[in-house]
Amino acid sequence: MHKDLQEILLTEEQIHARVQELGARITADYAGKKILMCGILKGAVTFFTDLARAIDGPVLFDFMSCSSYGASAQSSGFVKIRKDLDSEVKGQDILIVEDIIDTGVTLHKLVPLLEDRGAHSVKLATLLSKPARRKVDVPVDYNGFEIPDAFVVGYGLDYDGRYRNLPYIGVLKEEIYTK
Ligand code: IMP
Ligand code: MG
Repeated sequence: MHKDLQEILLTEEQIHARVQELGARITADYAGKKILMCGILKGAVTFFTDLARAIDGPVLFDFMSCSSYGASAQSSGFVKIRKDLDSEVKGQDILIVEDIIDTGVTLHKLVPLLEDRGAHSVKLATLLSKPARRKVDVPVDYNGFEIPDAFVVGYGLDYDGRYRNLPYIGVLKEEIYTK
């Protein structure tokens, strides 16, 4: 385990098994349709690529980037689009792929935005969800794991740009983000 972690919350094996389950459900739900997978940079990248390979059917890849925590472990409650999708959204079946839903503020803004652009459908897949922290309601269609209110890193998730390449998900020691 990385020395900055307090504990491992989800192992590689647990994550892999759950992603396969989500992929199978998505495959069945979208049978006969083409999915435009929209990954939210950068945290969702690891989940996105594993989930895409667990889906048996046609998918397109696109990415967008929103304002995030930066070097703070607290959400600003303010959402800014830094990089928009390249694709035409109109008529598409969109699957937003997010790493974690915390306050819900980011997705609360994004879902209606893509609907307003004329998407045929917009659904949401997230690897993690922290229900105890929710400030606004966000309907999640595919949720990997509900986790307690702790700051987690690994498998794409970062603190100040670090730890994204850990293959598992762990709870960051409080002393790392409070000093
Ligand atoms: P929300 O808008 O508060 O739901 O924030 C979602 C975003 O906050 C995620 O996409 C992450 O980038 C970031 N975030 C929230 N909780 C954590 C965490 O525990 N570890 C790392 N990033 C987090
Ligand atoms: Mg993020």
